[in-house]
Amino acid sequence: MCGIVAYLGERQAYPILMKGLKRLEYRGYDSAGVAILDGEMLLYKVKGKVAELVASIGKKKTSGTVGMAHTRWATHGEPNEINAHPHYSPTHNLAIIHNGIIENYVALKKELLKRGYIFQSETDTEVLIHLIEDIKLNERVDLVNAVQIALKQVIGAYAIVVISKDDPDILVAARKSSPLVIGIGKKEFFVASDAAPIIEHTSDVVYLNDEEIAIIQKNKPLKIKTISDIERTPYIEKLELNLSKIEKSGFEHFMLKEIFEQPHSIRDSMRGRLKINEGIVALGGILDYEQKLINARRILIVACGTSWHAGLVGEYLIEELARIPVEVEYASEFRYRKPVINEEDVVIAISQSGETADTLAAIELAKSKGATIIGICNVVGSSIARATHAGSYTHAGPEIGVASTKAFTAQVTILVMLALRLAYKRGTLPMSQFYQLLNELDGIPEKVEKTLLLNDKIKKLAEIFKDSTNALYLGRGYNFPVALEGALKLKEISYIHAEGYPAAEMKHGPIALIDENMPVVVLATNKTIYDKVVTNIQEVKARKGIIIAIVNEGDKTIGEMADYSIEVPETEEIFTPLISTIPLQLFSYHMAVLRGCNVDQPRNLAKSVTVE
Ligand code: M6R
Repeated sequence: MCGIVAYLGERQAYPILMKGLKRLEYRGYDSAGVAILDGEMLLYKVKGKVAELVASIGKKKTSGTVGMAHTRWATHGEPNEINAHPHYSPTHNLAIIHNGIIENYVALKKELLKRGYIFQSETDTEVLIHLIEDIKLNERVDLVNAVQIALKQVIGAYAIVVISKDDPDILVAARKSSPLVIGIGKKEFFVASDAAPIIEHTSDVVYLNDEEIAIIQKNKPLKIKTISDIERTPYIEKLELNLSKIEKSGFEHFMLKEIFEQPHSIRDSMRGRLKINEGIVALGGILDYEQKLINARRILIVACGTSWHAGLVGEYLIEELARIPVEVEYASEFRYRKPVINEEDVVIAISQSGETADTLAAIELAKSKGATIIGICNVVGSSIARATHAGSYTHAGPEIGVASTKAFTAQVTILVMLALRLAYKRGTLPMSQFYQLLNELDGIPEKVEKTLLLNDKIKKLAEIFKDSTNALYLGRGYNFPVALEGALKLKEISYIHAEGYPAAEMKHGPIALIDENMPVVVLATNKTIYDKVVTNIQEVKARKGIIIAIVNEGDKTIGEMADYSIEVPETEEIFTPLISTIPLQLFSYHMAVLRGCNVDQPRNLAKSVTVE
């Protein structure tokens, strides 16, 4: 949520900032702004996207080698020019950009109002910069000290950058519970919410930890202190990301590119873990904590959104294969509902971004009760990856489209391997079946590739249904989480109301919605409860619902019963989510494109939800 980028060096800051901001736009895009120091403070902002900011600046002055920029996802105050960042301090000497939420901003604002300060915006961020300047002037301290003192009074999450007209050769950056990474180049520094804007300039980076402040100065080495003024040695890491991974590479949208990357991303998730010739599956990152998992009283999976859907697949997998009780929780509910957790519990936190605020808070809660925490994250070095005891990266590569696609299949792949590993270690699966499943898993990327060949057929289907106002997605067993995921994909990018349901639950309520205008997507690739799914389809047909069935290749029974059918390669039931989710991703994508929606940047959404 919100993208931050800042530069200090010898080059012109503006083009670097605008390019960087474009790469961060997936984090939020309701307004954007930039501030540059060049003797004076140049500050421009607009309601809208980065392109609109660039257009509105046009030929106005943008020179200067120190600056910062922001793309916003609104929390406090509607998206408009006034609420956009950067925010000035009262004297206009300082400016700030911020990602996060200052939870006690009302109390801080009240104090400042009493002292006569006037606020332009409705944001919590403006309160912080007023506070910093108030401290700087009244306590006669330098900028770094003022930021330290102010942040000690702050409750909440922040990643900030502050610049000062009076100190034009310094950037002060700080973080708590919101990510911030610093790139170190030759005589230049970059600050950003994630590595995307930095990668083309340098691969040497320092990830700030909570309550650390980076003091970035011209011609001086990077200095890091805590807000309590304890000096820290910067730990420089090498970025393992290449530029092509964060570009569209000829695809019209990032989402489509990411859907088509799945044969590779699933293979990358399995690389070095599934050793088919040796008949082994092992997740290196969790080996030290494997015994905890094997002996777990129960496993709790916490996540949000699509990652929660992957967690549901994980529940089915681990219970069926390894016979360990599993509960799947929305992180936002778990953290506030006083759950019973103890030291024999293992919590698996799933997150693509590794920055989701609720998931992070759920981890902290479970940790405080003594549970072992295992992470399944995509973004290397992210807050969740660092907060867990151990974990497995999904290695899906950067996911830029707001709608999660390849991250989901990568998460499911990790969960499949984890369940198989636990089953092997606990002796809950006959070895012949274990080896057969490993072989089938090894062939999944090819089956995904084959499924992607259905793209044109699915596009034609989307042309038929593009004007629908509602849709139902039904699935049973392993296809139930896929139904939820399919419905989420459709609603988030095409704004069509869609609901995912366990197929048999339909007659307990949603069946009332079915009429001749209701498309019902039925996931019918299950073998074990095939007949039950057939019955559910009949129930819909009897009420004139329109059936779009996802079936196994050669399935004539449902194929003939359905109004439209999509045949996908058959696989073992436990792997079906890796296949049956692909046509649903493509369907949502084409529906959204045909409806003229902004696929990669759907309204009101942001890629990583770093606020509660
Ligand atoms: O980064 P995370 O996996 O923790 O994000 C969780 C959700 O915000 C995310 O999956 C969201 O639901 C996606 N927009 C779904 O496509």
